[in-house]
Amino acid sequence: MVDGFAWWQSGVVYQVYPRSFQDSNGDGVGDLPGLLARLDHLVTLGVDAVWISPIYPSPMADFGYDVEDYTGVHPLFGTMEDFDRLVAAAHGRGLKVILDYVPNHSSDRHPWFVESRSSRDNPKRDWYVWRDPSPDGGSPSNWLSEFGGSAWEWDAATGQYYYHAYLKEQPDLNWRNPEVRAAMLDVLRFWLDRGVDGFRVDAIHHLIEDEQLRDNPPNPGWREGMSPTRRVIRVHTMDQPEVHDAIAAMRRVVDSYPGDRLLIGEAYLPIDQLMAYYGTDLSGFQLPFNFHLLSTPWEAKPLAALIDQYEAALPSGGWPNWVLGNHDRSRVASRLGKAQARVAAMLLLTLRGTPTLYQGDEIGMTDVPIPPHLVQDPWEKNVPGLGLGRDPVRTPMPWDGGPNGGFTSGEPWLPLGPDAARVNVAAQATDPGSKLALHKALLALRRAEPALSVGSYRRVSAADDVLVYERAHGGRRLWVLLNLGRELRTVDAPAEGAHIRISTHLDRDGEPVAGSVRLRPNEGVVIGQ
Ligand code: NOJ
Repeated sequence: MVDGFAWWQSGVVYQVYPRSFQDSNGDGVGDLPGLLARLDHLVTLGVDAVWISPIYPSPMADFGYDVEDYTGVHPLFGTMEDFDRLVAAAHGRGLKVILDYVPNHSSDRHPWFVESRSSRDNPKRDWYVWRDPSPDGGSPSNWLSEFGGSAWEWDAATGQYYYHAYLKEQPDLNWRNPEVRAAMLDVLRFWLDRGVDGFRVDAIHHLIEDEQLRDNPPNPGWREGMSPTRRVIRVHTMDQPEVHDAIAAMRRVVDSYPGDRLLIGEAYLPIDQLMAYYGTDLSGFQLPFNFHLLSTPWEAKPLAALIDQYEAALPSGGWPNWVLGNHDRSRVASRLGKAQARVAAMLLLTLRGTPTLYQGDEIGMTDVPIPPHLVQDPWEKNVPGLGLGRDPVRTPMPWDGGPNGGFTSGEPWLPLGPDAARVNVAAQATDPGSKLALHKALLALRRAEPALSVGSYRRVSAADDVLVYERAHGGRRLWVLLNLGRELRTVDAPAEGAHIRISTHLDRDGEPVAGSVRLRPNEGVVIGQ
């Protein structure tokens, strides 16, 4: 904690995808006792909070993002007692616990939906988005599912369609219905009462759709090979103005609890639209996820421009945050290459604002190719061959060089990477130059130097593959110099009398800096006085 700042401002969030973190009972799927047994990894790494992807009862059509019971624990992951033990153990180690909250849709097996579809006059009918066919007898609008095909599913028994932004097994809840709101806000209270420190709110930009069901316009930018969902521009199905009222209601619940409880919002939106998710007078998310590092060209000028644009767009008092990877996107070491991924880690952990680190990125895991017969992800199954499937980024964590990387004594639900015997936590823990050692050192430096977490940001230069910026807080200044390319570069030293605090190669600590700084290919350094 830094004086004057909330824990989530100076802290670092670590995302656990529980199916793939640690299995404790040999069924090939990670679970809560497994996560508990590995909590010390997070402590030695030096993060502050663990966000756990969904652990609720679920038919697993979308691997837990199809929730059958919002206030339970799936037996695959353990029991409520396991969950309580996990929270206590995390808190005992100074770690915060953040759960995934999936308000946009439930599972089609959720009792609410089972009731809703049972008849047109069931009291829960309006809890989901039911509509009559269009006059020509087809689906009510041209809206498309994120995972392929129409977003409308015909229900022959009751003669209406229901809307699903994702799979047909994930019907959208109707947030315009006050009973739905009340029930879903109670879900937050249930977990807050059990001691959780916050929520990552899933797919928030999809929460509400156009009431008049207007067709989405065609997307002139769509090309063969792109996701079929992008054939239209989702103006009437995403980012509707009413969403902010719902978020403010979530925030009021969270704020009614003691301690600094946190709401993080998942919304893949352009920066200007994203800013609205902080809410009027910051009544929305404390951290609307900023995913722009995932899509910005990895070059000095565009990255510097992104940082400037984002910083300038933040509402007064709004806190920045940065993301380099998650369970939905290609891993950073695959996108940028292993060497450059070290520079990316330095960027992530030295930018102003809260970073989120995805499990396995701290050891440099790469996307694992999944043979067709082992594919699990419904997106890949529905829309094959376009590289949309997310299994490659969800493979189990390799902990050691033993069978299945120490992840499970059984058959893992997804295969481990072919490099697991080398790229694993135990091997890297004893290698002073490893990716893991780099993450630990960066996180330790960030903790020791609040300038790197909460300090001001100032761009110094962005040219010839090298991005240089200054971070300052309470009279201390540090400079970050990142060589984003594969050539040797020499840049002017931003300060006199400074020395290298850390290099991404971990071999230049304490080196004095005079006049200019030499940066090897794919090297970043932090310098300070
Ligand atoms: C976003 C989640 O991150 C993703 O994994 C999931 O499939 C969709 N939302 C639907 O819940």
